[in-house]
Amino acid sequence: MIQLDITHAEEVEQIIKLHAPDTIVHVASNSNGNWCEQHPELAHAINVPATQTLVELTNTYGAKLVYISSLAATQGNNVYGKTKAAAEHYVQQTKAGFLILRPSLLVGFSPNTTNDRPFNRLLKNITHHTPAVYDTSWQFQPTWLRHLCEVIEQCISQIVFNHIIPITVPQLCTRYSLAKDILSDFGVTVLAEDKKDTTPLFVDTQDTLHALGLPVYSYQQMIDGIQEEISNFLRQ
Ligand SMILES: NC(=O)c1ccc[n+]([C@@H]2O[C@H](COP(=O)([O-])OP(=O)(O)OC[C@H]3O[C@@H](n4cnc5c(N)ncnc54)[C@H](OP(=O)(O)O)[C@@H]3O)[C@@H](O)[C@H]2O)c1
Repeated sequence: MIQLDITHAEEVEQIIKLHAPDTIVHVASNSNGNWCEQHPELAHAINVPATQTLVELTNTYGAKLVYISSLAATQGNNVYGKTKAAAEHYVQQTKAGFLILRPSLLVGFSPNTTNDRPFNRLLKNITHHTPAVYDTSWQFQPTWLRHLCEVIEQCISQIVFNHIIPITVPQLCTRYSLAKDILSDFGVTVLAEDKKDTTPLFVDTQDTLHALGLPVYSYQQMIDGIQEEISNFLRQ
């Protein structure tokens, strides 16, 4: 692992020059919408000029670029969505090939089990017995992190580029129903709260995944897979 700040263009160029990557997967961002509203300049700096610089460097060094965007980029009603949409605009200028992947709310195990992501809050409900109170108002189709990783691997190995791909499961849920379904196997009681979340509903048809022959998962397959991931983690 080499640490760098993506807003420092010289550092980014040094790494690209040194390793001459064929493909760069760009995940750097702060996906917490509230943090972005409170720190609009920082959110803009990470998402927009840093991504623009990265695109310029991919064009100088001939690398392809996979950008982890968000379905929020299609809504543009907050700082996070607006800056992700602006980043997508630059990513499409990558000459060697680009992919824009648009997950919805991401759930599933990743090696970082402690930072403040929705999935890690679910883990804490089990490991730290934090109160499991989740919203019933916002409806969305979640994204399984393993699914996103499989799409990245498949697109790179089969050279599927220059597409914008939403990645979700077909079924709608709320934060409450998702938490209840994931946590049911672990003896955690989940309580409902109407947080009057007015985030718009975006319905993804999975048409792009189907058209490109990429994997598709059902909601239940995702829940079963995540429960298995959590069980494996708890056994460690
Ligand atoms: N979580 C979701 O529900 C969700 C939904 C849709 C899309 N996404 C997108 O998925 C991607 C990953 O997000 P995540 O939710 O998984 O959050 P995450 O775990 O916090 O991942 C974001 C990563 O970006 C890094 N980063 C932040 N600022 C940076 C900078 N200036 N220079 C270099 N690296 C920097 C962070 O590094 P540190 O760990 O060192 O801070 C972290 O490793 C993001 O692009 C996000 O917009 C997430």
